[in-house]
Amino acid sequence: MLIRRRSDIPASEITDERLYLNRRSFIATSGLLGVAAATGALPGCLKASPSDEQGEDKLTPYRDVTTYNNYYEFGTGKDDPAENAGSFRTRPWSIAVEGLVKKPAVYNLEDILRPVTQEERVYRLRCVEGWSMVIPWLGFPLAALINRVEPTSQAKFVEFTTLHDPRQMPGQRRPVLDWPYTEGLRLDEAMHPLAILATGLYGRPLPNQNGAPLRLVVPWKYGFKSIKGIVKLRFTDRQPATAWNKAAPSEYGFYSNVNPEVDHPRWSQAKERRIGEFLRRRTLMFNGYGDQVARMYAGMDLRRYY
Ligand code: MTE
Repeated sequence: MLIRRRSDIPASEITDERLYLNRRSFIATSGLLGVAAATGALPGCLKASPSDEQGEDKLTPYRDVTTYNNYYEFGTGKDDPAENAGSFRTRPWSIAVEGLVKKPAVYNLEDILRPVTQEERVYRLRCVEGWSMVIPWLGFPLAALINRVEPTSQAKFVEFTTLHDPRQMPGQRRPVLDWPYTEGLRLDEAMHPLAILATGLYGRPLPNQNGAPLRLVVPWKYGFKSIKGIVKLRFTDRQPATAWNKAAPSEYGFYSNVNPEVDHPRWSQAKERRIGEFLRRRTLMFNGYGDQVARMYAGMDLRRYY
């Protein structure tokens, strides 16, 4: 099996983030990114927004985003996904839509992508382990797909499932998690305009290790909610089981909103290490997106629903 290691990738194929930023400001001034670029109107879009007194969010270098991450299907080490996902086949790719919807079907990825407009969103990703990154994603609102398949009035949750293919995903040959990886959102969370399905980052197609060809990005929740390599969406009236909740229920709840006041049983969540920075930052409630998402949790005890 040919595995493309980082050292085999010509330097010319790796986007330098300064070049990327220059190119991006060129694209923005020439209007190619459309309304979002012109007005900054979309939440969290384009501008790496200042998070608070802690100063500007700088983009995390492409190299860090793509070589230090979690994708247990390719191994549990931080560099395993980049090492082992190189030959993963992302085409042809289909996504099954099942359950409480008016239009259940198995869709080709191309059919899902054709009607949607892809746009860039700069979002912070905060891992439950205490590290964080700032990533320019390319994607489209999850709501666009949900509206298209028309959930019935009974649908209250969406369950997402990752591909199960131990021949291609060596991590699945060991019972580290109850494969396939699954995740879930309440329907209003899934419909929130900040929740996107991503197909790229840094203006390029999503690298396999970051979840190609399609992954979820839910910026106000811990990174593990952002499931990669999605092959199924199932609409349900009951809260779905999730991979991490099944593996360690006392550590990982269904909601998993970034919350500096609720410690992980084995460590504090008050601070985070932004990859590339020396001093740790204070973690912000809802990862800094509270003004846009807090109302969905009004009246909920966020210690109980962690
Ligand atoms: N999705 C799948 N299928 N398998 C995984 O192991 N890891 C999660 C999440 N999605 C994971 C996954 C975790 S713990 C994190 S922090 C993010 O992916 C990392 O996303 P990134 O590669 O964009 O940094």
